[in-house]
Amino acid sequence: MSIKENVFPSHFAWGAATAAYQIEGAWNADGKGPSIWDTFCHGKGRVYENQNGDVACNSYDLWEEDLRCIQQLGLTHYRFSLSWSRLLPDGTTRHINQKGVSYYNRVINDLLASNVTPMVTLYHFDLPQALQDQGGWTSAHIADAFNSYAVFCFGTFGDRVKLWLTLNEPSVCAKLGHEDGLHAPGLRDPGAAAYLVGHNMLRAHAKAWHSYHALFRPEQRGLVSLALSSDWAEPLDPGSPEDAAAAERYMAFTFGWFASPVFMTGDYPAVMRSRIDARSRAQGFLSSRLPAFSEGEPSVLGTADFFALNYYTSRRARSASPPPGTLGLKSDQGAEGVLDPSWPVCGVSWLAVVPDGLRKLLKHIKDTCNNPAVYITENGFSQVGPVDLEDFRRCGFYRDTLLEVSEAIHEDGVDVRGYFAWSLLDNFEWADGFSVRFGLFHVDFEHPKLTRSMYRSGREYAKIIARNGFPS
Ligand code: NOJ
Repeated sequence: MSIKENVFPSHFAWGAATAAYQIEGAWNADGKGPSIWDTFCHGKGRVYENQNGDVACNSYDLWEEDLRCIQQLGLTHYRFSLSWSRLLPDGTTRHINQKGVSYYNRVINDLLASNVTPMVTLYHFDLPQALQDQGGWTSAHIADAFNSYAVFCFGTFGDRVKLWLTLNEPSVCAKLGHEDGLHAPGLRDPGAAAYLVGHNMLRAHAKAWHSYHALFRPEQRGLVSLALSSDWAEPLDPGSPEDAAAAERYMAFTFGWFASPVFMTGDYPAVMRSRIDARSRAQGFLSSRLPAFSEGEPSVLGTADFFALNYYTSRRARSASPPPGTLGLKSDQGAEGVLDPSWPVCGVSWLAVVPDGLRKLLKHIKDTCNNPAVYITENGFSQVGPVDLEDFRRCGFYRDTLLEVSEAIHEDGVDVRGYFAWSLLDNFEWADGFSVRFGLFHVDFEHPKLTRSMYRSGREYAKIIARNGFPS
């Protein structure tokens, strides 16, 4: 592997990412309406030590500190999300919260004044509670509500924002939020809910993409996509046809679930459809638990101007026969993902560090999605336990991962346009609260000023950015 400077294309986007609920705090300040994460965390027993994002990093009041962090890293891009209920407290454009608009205007204007390009996510897990009360993502009406919100944001910020993500990780929202109950809104429905939610999210995304292209793109000339998360899966035993088929199913149910409708065929992967259709029939459902795309709706195929990938980890897959009568995504998939013993695990148990899995997944995107431009919109390494500002393992992780990205570009010809580290700051890691830290900056949550301090990995990342490559 070559280690040199200027290994990345010129104009490569060097970023870090955050999300509104994870950093902003100010959960009920200045007219913000509650979101499902406010409600979820204010109930007991759902989040590590009953923590919540009421204050988090208080980026609502401390934005200038965050901007300084961005500048210290030398980022060219910053990905953040808008809180829907900060802008539209009841989720609809009937009532616009001007203080919310001013906050995001300030963030966007300050970024641009600092030569940092914003990439804006419209939805990162925090649905307005008022819309949840009407069924949330399980309701067919949500697609229109989301579209109105998206149109409002394109119209308000699109003169300056040129990189948009409609939704973050719809698969996580669908499964963890509506099947496992581990994320807001905390629904535990092992039946059809995850597929229904995923379907409505695709419909919502497609509507917003079409609105942008019809109403805004001619003048604003921006790009719109959605951030998809996927593991990379390989057969546990490379010589076993059963494991090979299991790995294929694993990829179909994680990657293909959203990538196939948007980038490949306009429908869910064939193996997903056939398994869920057959199992639904056997289970006595009147129709398949996996919804069908209807002719009368705007097409989902082709509704992404680039591929936005969140990659964290890999799995070895083997076949797993679900006990009869079990529902849910995992049993429909009929495959389980295990960790290779050689993979180090960082912080949280699900996060095995597998940098070359990213290279393989990038190649898979190139091959299956018609060689799109790709932004890696999230990738990161977590720390748990005592805070260690000298995080050498994370330094190695970023270096190894970015070497794989450079190989994907130069050896495999993948059109990677940028990389966003997750995350700029230690923040509220959903059900794990503040116990899991992904930041390039440490945030002292015990200190009244929520002091930010750069980790060693932040310094290393800054060097890579400055060289657009690696120290020789
Ligand atoms: C992906 C999610 O988008 C982000 O919100 C989360 O913090 C990271 N994964 C790490 O788990």
